[in-house]
Amino acid sequence: PAPPGEYLFTLSAATLRSLTELVRSYLRFLDNGGLEGVDLADVCHTTQVSRSAHRYRVALVVTGFDDLRRGLEGLLSDGQQPITDGSLAEPANAYLRGAPVDWRALAAGRSHRIVRLPRYVFDETTAWLEFPQTWRQTMSLERAIERHPVTHDVELAPMPAPETTGAGTVLALVDPATEAETLLASALPENSWIVRLGDPVAPSGNPFSADSAASFERIVALVEERAITHLVYALAFEEKPAADIEEIERRSTKNLYGLFHLAKALMAAGAKLDLVVLTRSAISAEEGDTSAVTENAALVGFGKVFVREYPYVKVKHVDVDLAVPVAALRAEILADQYGLSVLRGERRLREVFVEVPEIELAPGADGPRPYLRPGGTYLITGGTGALGLAVARDFATAQPDITVVLLSRSGLPPRDEWDELLAAAGPMAGRIRVVRELESLGTTARAISVDAGDSKALAEAVTQLRQEHGRIDGIVHAAGLPGGSTVMFRQLDDFDAVVRAKLHAAFVLAELTRDDPPDFVAHFSSVASVFPAPGQADYAAANYYLDNVARAQAGGGTHVIALDWVAWKEIGMAVDFGTNGDTMFKAIPTAVGLAVLDAGLRSRRSRLFAGEINYAGELIHLLRSYDVGLSPGIEATVERHMHALAERLAKATEKIRATVAAVVVEPDGRPDGNYSDTERSVAQCLALAFGYDRIDVEADFFDLGGDSLMAAAVANNIAVYHGVSYDVADLLADRTVAEIAYHVDDLRDFG
Ligand SMILES: NC(=O)c1ccc[n+]([C@@H]2O[C@H](COP(=O)([O-])OP(=O)(O)OC[C@H]3O[C@@H](n4cnc5c(N)ncnc54)[C@H](OP(=O)(O)O)[C@@H]3O)[C@@H](O)[C@H]2O)c1
Repeated sequence: PAPPGEYLFTLSAATLRSLTELVRSYLRFLDNGGLEGVDLADVCHTTQVSRSAHRYRVALVVTGFDDLRRGLEGLLSDGQQPITDGSLAEPANAYLRGAPVDWRALAAGRSHRIVRLPRYVFDETTAWLEFPQTWRQTMSLERAIERHPVTHDVELAPMPAPETTGAGTVLALVDPATEAETLLASALPENSWIVRLGDPVAPSGNPFSADSAASFERIVALVEERAITHLVYALAFEEKPAADIEEIERRSTKNLYGLFHLAKALMAAGAKLDLVVLTRSAISAEEGDTSAVTENAALVGFGKVFVREYPYVKVKHVDVDLAVPVAALRAEILADQYGLSVLRGERRLREVFVEVPEIELAPGADGPRPYLRPGGTYLITGGTGALGLAVARDFATAQPDITVVLLSRSGLPPRDEWDELLAAAGPMAGRIRVVRELESLGTTARAISVDAGDSKALAEAVTQLRQEHGRIDGIVHAAGLPGGSTVMFRQLDDFDAVVRAKLHAAFVLAELTRDDPPDFVAHFSSVASVFPAPGQADYAAANYYLDNVARAQAGGGTHVIALDWVAWKEIGMAVDFGTNGDTMFKAIPTAVGLAVLDAGLRSRRSRLFAGEINYAGELIHLLRSYDVGLSPGIEATVERHMHALAERLAKATEKIRATVAAVVVEPDGRPDGNYSDTERSVAQCLALAFGYDRIDVEADFFDLGGDSLMAAAVANNIAVYHGVSYDVADLLADRTVAEIAYHVDDLRDFG
């Protein structure tokens, strides 16, 4: 036993740097009064029994707090452990050697409390390397890094006819100005209903009108009344692409916004059925199919999102030509297959996501750009946005004598305000800085303030630009607003604004430059047109249009390309909305995004989907949840990674269970010495992290030396060992072995 008034204070850390920091934090703790009113014996007891014994250790024999302070200061100034003598020399030396010490015997029957002390200080330079091997494997830090192509495409590939043809009760909505009814009349099973625009929905009801939400509510009431199983939405069945912007306006109101109203009405009524969106040649089945009614393809993007927001309605999009056999169309309407089917005569095509590994990326490469003309004029819509400015800078660096026109609603403030705004920092300062940089390169940079979704205003601006600069040599169409909320809560005006900035604007730009076509048009589309998330119905619809229009215009005088971006990692709207992390895809660094644009413009491709699949990520299974086929190569790699992930999880579980079970620790602190089995196993989980052979069941996790990094691992072990869902937030609330065990028992009993 220690002589009265003498105590052994111990400290250890995994690295020398951590140990030094720990000594410093004890000194600060003392200086800040952290130990006022605390018994030195309890402090030393806590350091002995409630702290892991790491490789680098110090032990001080102390008689009071002043003595402790001197000892700690001595450690810092001398940089070494002082020689200990007296009766505490033996346990001190044993501790320093790493030999076991019987702390209980040392306490000689006196009972001590666990008290709050400074936390362990991680050495940031080496903390990860110091983790035990099992942690590293569990946390998958050691997985080899595999590289996969950044560039992909969506092809239309043949697929066999659907196998089973079920039965159903069908209601079809048609526009009598199109041939939809003629086709459907023979294709639909008997006992089907057809409602035409303009017809009364119910015998005495108002005529069915596509721009009336109430009309669709009545349709949905009819659906319920007649127990409809398949609702065919065939309003978008025009034969030819829209000839002018007025027709685009009319069609988007009738076809896309009609579908929007219908979707809302179906959700509001809690309907459960198959929704078949039937269009006529909306998809450019072949590249360069200028007869494709591209604007109606926006409905495909909408449907892809709707089904994710409201899975009770299963959506299939059937795009036909009039050569489709009626039996095939009937089979398609009734089949249990969803997603897009493109039927051209006897042919049946579906979307398949493929790699485009042959595109070579050279991020940051200098050199001439064959697609930029000396002295050329380039229009960038969304030009004052993050990606627009990055592209402007990239073009100007490669070909400084060009003019870039940056078009956006907000534009730039008058020049005489620039200095003041620059001094104030903020987003406007960033834009001004880039424009100044462009000018210093010798580039003419103009910002114009125009709403691209306002067709008239855009037309006037483009006409004026052409008068002032002559031909527009290239267009980057990057104007865009992100989607905002699910269809259920979306207002039509907001929906419309998202669609217009992309769809209507792209149409107007193509119209206005038809006589004097630019060398290229690059549409900034999105991953959302292929793999959208809920809340993106408008955004996906607009981007799907951009992809399809680029495909339809392939091979023409202008190189039109759609770039489907996954989230950009460093700049842009994904950063603004905090969605720039890795998901199914790895977020793209700016240099790689610009390299994809460069490679795309050098190629003759009509589309590049830009984003590396994040095979090793935990969301990879989502890639299979879309009604888009995966190429055999991608499918096999997904399969391999999902298998590996499952195996890793199973192995980690097994290992954690065995490791926890092998930990020897005595629960402590309860006068009657009674501890439940769960308290014992929870103590084992904590001891595994801290290395103690005794843990007070009432000791606070942080007083035991825990921190939030450790909490994640400890909570995981508790969850895995006990087979319950227990996470770091639970641990941070429970904090003691007794509380954690109580919670775990509760979870086991009540789930
Ligand atoms: N960043 C990404 O991760 C990502 C991923 C996929 C796709 N994209 C696409 O890439 C494009 C650029 O995105 P970003 O990240 O650079 O976004 P951003 O920083 O928000 O820039 C978007 C730009 O579009 C302009 N804009 C919006 N509506 C407009 C309208 N009606 N008329 C004219 N300009 C309009 C905005 O300026 P005003 O508000 O002043 O008009 C802004 O300059 C967008 O089309 C987006 O959909 C981006």
